[in-house]
Amino acid sequence: MSELIQKIENKYKNLKHDPNTFLKGLLHSKPITYWDYIQVDTLLSLQKTRTDFPDEYIFVVYHQVTELILALITHELKQIVDAKAPLAADRLEDKINRICRYVEVLDSSFSVMSQGMEYEQYNEFRLSLAPASGFQAVSFRIIEFYCTDLFNLIRPENKTETTASESIPDQIKLLYWQDAGMNRQTGARSLMLDLFEEKYLPMLIQNGEQLKGRNLNSIINKDLISDSLKSSLRRMDYLFNVKWPLSHLNTAESYLIAAGHKTASTGMSDWQKYLHPAYQQRCFFPGVWTEEERANWGKFEISQ
Ligand code: HEM
Repeated sequence: MSELIQKIENKYKNLKHDPNTFLKGLLHSKPITYWDYIQVDTLLSLQKTRTDFPDEYIFVVYHQVTELILALITHELKQIVDAKAPLAADRLEDKINRICRYVEVLDSSFSVMSQGMEYEQYNEFRLSLAPASGFQAVSFRIIEFYCTDLFNLIRPENKTETTASESIPDQIKLLYWQDAGMNRQTGARSLMLDLFEEKYLPMLIQNGEQLKGRNLNSIINKDLISDSLKSSLRRMDYLFNVKWPLSHLNTAESYLIAAGHKTASTGMSDWQKYLHPAYQQRCFFPGVWTEEERANWGKFEISQ
């Protein structure tokens, strides 16, 4: 105990703070509780629905759950990318495996959306949400920027020989996700995309510039990685860029296609075409896939 007290004393002396004041404060402070630590009241006050349909609550909560899981993914990516010295291979692999587990949670829980809401209710309350769309969830875009160079987020048909050397703002104009809201022939843009860029474009440009050459794909040395790290990177790429997108697309189809007719989404994209991974061709770590696998992106499964 006295050794502990000594350590506390040293700690506060180093902080130029009187250790006695701290110890007296400790005497008076109340014990911490679960509800204060987890911020339960605040957390459960954040679900604001726009209609009286009960299933809208499920929709809001599940999106919030997704945001929290995405925050866990970003938390790992930041530690990998911002580390002062490159992480040892086994720590890196451990973190990639954590990310895989988080994406698996997102994928396996997506049945909360696909099976968990009444079709009729969903198709009523969603009408009050336009032009908002999950498309505007910037957390997905931030994860992409942490994982790879923007060049790997551009569909092959929009790449030229000079694309890789173009400025970050110019590369952002070519990213696959622009296709959800922009007609490349006419230049017409949707309100969903305009509002998204109005809010996030400056931050995305800054992120793109900061992460160029130091994102996850850039710092892994493809010639030196072990087979098990390679297989973890393949799983992560597959789960985030193929498996979850397909679960999401299947869900969209189950709610937005009635009697064989495709209905308009809240964001007004050509969603059935756009959301398919084979169309987007989004791949974080091209070096861990064969040419044949890249050519068939979105059309094959990998064993888990
Ligand atoms: C019933 C449930 C859902 C349906 C029917 C649905 C439908 C759609 C549609 C049609 C789009 C295309 C953009 C548009 O035109 O609006 C889209 C995009 C998107 N949604 Fe959902 N969505 C659902 C749930 C979710 C959930 C829970 C999330 C998690 C945050 C989410 C995240 C996204 C993302 C990130 C995009 C953009 C995808 C990309 O750019 O690749 N969606 N969604």
